Amino acid sequence: MKRRLLAALGGAVLAFSLAACGGEGAGGDTDTSGQAPQDLTIGVSMPTQTSERWIADGNSVKEKLEAKGYKVDLQYAGDDIPTQSQQVDQMITRGADVLIIAAIDGTALSSQLQAAADKKIPVIAYDRLIRDSQNVDFYVSFDNFKVGVAQANALLVGLGLQNKDGSKGSKTGPFNIEVFAGSLDDNNAHFFFDGAMQTLKPFLDNGSLVVKSKQTAIEQVAILRWQQETAQKRMEDLLTSTYNDGSKVNGVLSPYDGLSRGIITALQNAGYGPAANPIPVVTGQDAEIASVKLINDGVQGSTIFKDTRLLAEQAVIAAEAFLQEKQPQANDTTTYDNGVKVVPSYLLPVQTVFKDDIKTALIDSGYYTAEEVAAGQAK
Ligand code: GAL
Repeated sequence: MKRRLLAALGGAVLAFSLAACGGEGAGGDTDTSGQAPQDLTIGVSMPTQTSERWIADGNSVKEKLEAKGYKVDLQYAGDDIPTQSQQVDQMITRGADVLIIAAIDGTALSSQLQAAADKKIPVIAYDRLIRDSQNVDFYVSFDNFKVGVAQANALLVGLGLQNKDGSKGSKTGPFNIEVFAGSLDDNNAHFFFDGAMQTLKPFLDNGSLVVKSKQTAIEQVAILRWQQETAQKRMEDLLTSTYNDGSKVNGVLSPYDGLSRGIITALQNAGYGPAANPIPVVTGQDAEIASVKLINDGVQGSTIFKDTRLLAEQAVIAAEAFLQEKQPQANDTTTYDNGVKVVPSYLLPVQTVFKDDIKTALIDSGYYTAEEVAAGQAK
C-alpha cells in the first residue's frame, strides 16, 4: 500500500512505480495516508445474501464507510467459493486500497491474498478467520468460544438444569438432546462447538444430558455452508433413526438461527409444538429477525446476539488505520492462530437473548423495532 521511500525519491521513480502497477487505480502500492477518502476504495467481500445477518453486515460496513466519504466495492458471493475468489480478484484489479473479507471457506483464498500482499493491500478478515495464509493483516470478530459457551448455557437454562446466574437449576433430567455444528470450512464453527461441548461435558458425563443418537463428533454433526435445509434434513433423519420408539427430544444445540429454523420445521412436521408434545429447547445465534419472532412466540428458546453494527464499526476503524499507514489496535493477540501466524484481533462481546431479553437487547438498542419483531421481518 505504501511506498514512503518511493515518494521521497521523486517523480521519475514514482512514475515508473505507477507504470509497473499497470495503471490500475489508487489501490495497492501507493501511499494512501495523504489521500482523500473519495479517492480510496474499500473492497468488501461477503459470503451470501441468503442469510439476513450478512446482508446487515454488508449494509452496515458500506454505510459507515460511505458516511466517511470512502468508495465501497461490496460483493456477495452466493456461498460459492469460485465466485468469491473471482470477486476478490476483481476488487484487486479495480484498485481496492483495503480488503474486508468474510470468507466462505477459510482456506480457499490463498492466491487472492497473495495478489493483495504483492500490491501491499491490507486484508481484514471479517468475523471468519482466513486460515493458512501469511497475508491476513487483522481480524475483527466476536469472542467465538464464548458464543459456544453461551449457547450451551442457554440450553441448560432452557431445560432447567441450570439457572441464568449459573447456579444449579430445579431439574435433574435425564434429557435427550441432539447437537449440531456449522460448516467445517468455517473456523468459527469449531470455536462454537468446542465452547459448547466443553460446557455440556459435565452434564453428559453425569447422565443428566444424553445425546441419544450418539452423534457427538463435529464431523458427524456439521452442516455444510450452514444450510437451513441440510439441518432440517438431518433433524428429520435423527427423528426417524433415533426417536421412533416413542422417546422424545428435549433439547437441540444449534449454532446458528438459520439452522435452528430448519431444525424447528423438522420437529413441528413431526408433531412437536402443542403443550402435550412440547417443542424442544432450541438454541441459536445471530438474532436473525425470523428467529427473534420465534423466540418471542415461545417456539425457539434463545439466540446469541452479536451486534453487527459494532462489528462493522470495528472493521471500518481497522480499515481507516491501515489507510493512514497505522496498525489497528488489537485486543487479542494470542487466540487466533490461522495455521501460519497468530492474527491480531479485535473481539467483541456477545449477549444471550431469551424471550425476556428481546426488549432490552434488541428493541431498546434500536437493532429492531417492536413491529419488526412482531412481524418477523426487518424493513
Ligand atoms: C459464522 C458466523 C455466525 C453465523 C454463521 C452462518 O461464521 O460467525 O454468526 O452467521 O457464520 O452465517
